[in-house]
Amino acid sequence: MAQTTALTPSPTARRHLATLSLLLTTVMSHSPASAADSTPPALAWTASPAIEEKVSALLAQMTLEEKLGQITQFASGIVTGPTGEKIDERELAATGRLGSVLNLTGADKVNALQREAVEKSRLKIPILFAMDIIHGYRTTYPVPLALAASWDADLAADCAHMAAVEGSAAGIRWTFSPMVDVARDARWGRITEGSGEDPYLGEVFARAWVRGYQGDDLTSPTSMLACAKHFVGYGGAEGGRDYNTVDVSERVLRDIYLPPFKAALDEGVGTMMSAFNSLQGVPASADRRTLTGILRGEWGFRGFVVSDWNSIGELIAHGVALNGLQAGFKALDAGVDMDMQANLYPRLGELVKNGTLKTEVIDEAVRRVLRVKFAIGLFERPYTDEALAPAAYLTPEHLALARRAAEDSFVLLKNEPVAGGASLLPLKEGGTVALIGALADRKDDMLGAWSSHGQQHDVVTLHEALAERLHDKLIYARGVSPNGDSAEDFPDAMNAAARADLVIVALGESRDMSGEASSRSRIDLPGRQLELLKKIVETGKPVVLVLFNGRPLSIPWEAAHVPAILEAWYPGVQAGPALVRTLFGEANPSGKLTASFPRSLGQIPLYYNYFNTGRPAPGADRYVTGYIDDEHTPLFPFGWGLSYTKFEYSPTHLITTKATADEINAGGSIEVEATVKNAGPVAGRETVQIYIRERGTSVVRPVRELKAFQKISLKSGEAQTIKFKLSKKDLSFWNIDLQEKVEPCELTIWIAPHSQGGEPAKMLIE
Ligand code: BGC
Repeated sequence: MAQTTALTPSPTARRHLATLSLLLTTVMSHSPASAADSTPPALAWTASPAIEEKVSALLAQMTLEEKLGQITQFASGIVTGPTGEKIDERELAATGRLGSVLNLTGADKVNALQREAVEKSRLKIPILFAMDIIHGYRTTYPVPLALAASWDADLAADCAHMAAVEGSAAGIRWTFSPMVDVARDARWGRITEGSGEDPYLGEVFARAWVRGYQGDDLTSPTSMLACAKHFVGYGGAEGGRDYNTVDVSERVLRDIYLPPFKAALDEGVGTMMSAFNSLQGVPASADRRTLTGILRGEWGFRGFVVSDWNSIGELIAHGVALNGLQAGFKALDAGVDMDMQANLYPRLGELVKNGTLKTEVIDEAVRRVLRVKFAIGLFERPYTDEALAPAAYLTPEHLALARRAAEDSFVLLKNEPVAGGASLLPLKEGGTVALIGALADRKDDMLGAWSSHGQQHDVVTLHEALAERLHDKLIYARGVSPNGDSAEDFPDAMNAAARADLVIVALGESRDMSGEASSRSRIDLPGRQLELLKKIVETGKPVVLVLFNGRPLSIPWEAAHVPAILEAWYPGVQAGPALVRTLFGEANPSGKLTASFPRSLGQIPLYYNYFNTGRPAPGADRYVTGYIDDEHTPLFPFGWGLSYTKFEYSPTHLITTKATADEINAGGSIEVEATVKNAGPVAGRETVQIYIRERGTSVVRPVRELKAFQKISLKSGEAQTIKFKLSKKDLSFWNIDLQEKVEPCELTIWIAPHSQGGEPAKMLIE
């Protein structure tokens, strides 16, 4: 993998790098005994002979019914999908037929149900309690797409650790996170849950989330088991419509969608979730080729796979099973070890009795589930200390981290000088400010989708924080809301704008417009928001636009007419303080987009790592790839984000000038560097990105591919030379024979501030 050498890594990063280099030199063996010595700490649980012995001993005592119960999960409490059958969870627990429960929270409630299993059931196998803790348990921090925009993996790991501390205090030992689906279509509501459109960034953040949740020691009471989801291809849903068909080529699957899952596995992730979608014609939750062939066979995954919510039952609607028994059989046989909420695995005994299903298939799934339960120390410590919560929630440290995470995820999309020569941001003290927009004062929306145990009353809004700072120099008007199409508050808003020296307009989407089952067929500002914005801009007052949303938006008018735009996403409980500090320059924006912002809906799917085609645009005549009514480029590209200071890049310089494909395949590397200078007035942070393009190869390679990045801090006037090392992991791809290799090629390298910048260097790999 690409390495940078300019900075001293933080302690978390050092741990990460140590694990990585170990991983790179370790060939994972499928045999637990022989792998024990060489397995890196994060993966130790996969290769523990002691655990394997305990699993075998327990398995030998289990009845068929107990085995089927062990691979069954039911929801209790919050419903996160179509409602299933009512079950008696206490009875199932007491009779050893409940392997896992999702959505039951609170140490007292969890302990009560756990007691049924541990004290009453025959074999005393504890239940594994799970929940979707996606961006914080009680201390809600920015949605994952926002956090990815920080390009700070250690920050994501710290946030995940905080979520684990709080979630585990509520009795949750397993989170259905991270979502590592690459998403190239902004219509898809679930783009908000992942890291965006790039597989490399997806790998880096997949590792960070897993590292943060699981920690160094899975048995620690504050560690939470992670779950990489949704395996696989879910982000490629046609038309951006949730749950829809996915049909990508094998090469795209391997180059784009699979790498973040592999990265999660290399970081020691204990579980994965099989997806809802079909892939190349096979429903992901019945796909033996991916679940067993790739995941177990090629990669050696030793954790377990849980289905998505009723995704086994949905095999019937997909059309590959005629009834529940067939669906259950197909999923288990394909490699789905645990049935979430379909209530089909408990019925599979019938198929064992009639000889259709071999007990060994069930045993293997049970083995995997028990292995993970032993690995997290659930048998030794099945209960949660009921004294931990609520003191574990919203501590000053947690709130400080949530605020920093929000500040670091903001992306300054535009900040052009206005009349008088200066940019509007950061705001100058003095003068009256009008704040307009319902989103500036809506607590629930700041939490974003999947906000777990997040509470509205924990949120400080932009309105509240700004009022605290500006007192009577602030006029607030609701003006317009993303939902509905009322203009009754427009006059108030116009009145506020007329009385102010500067107007901050807070617009975007309400939180329920992204997340699961929240795909949009238009991705502009919903409702009458643009209409009001136009009226305000027409007044000639200086306008700053703050956006709250869970996906890239199409905002061409806004980008052309509003001088300053700050993308705030859904920032979480510290939305207001983080925004006020950023607007006034106490925090300098350093976020960069991880998903392209289109000019229009018609450009979607839009991603920076596209193929050039035989007729690239722009060209000399009209017969080039593009549109007759719009540009083909994004409005704001992948990697884009401004700062209150200015960074200047030297041309990319090759340190290594000669290399052969054979050398790199055998472990060699290419070194390259550039100098980045803070040529602006204040200190700032910059994410230096390295992109490559390979030409003359056996298959088409993208016009640019991100291979590494380094986030650096520079004082005003300070410069730093950043070195990158590109090795086989970075330069190889799935070639014409579907082998992952480096090929002889012409290599172009950009060290750049975003996916359209940088002065490249070229060399031949012979
Ligand atoms: C989602 C998963 C989630 C599960 C459990 C499903 O609807 O697709 O991502 O983990 O529900 O809540």
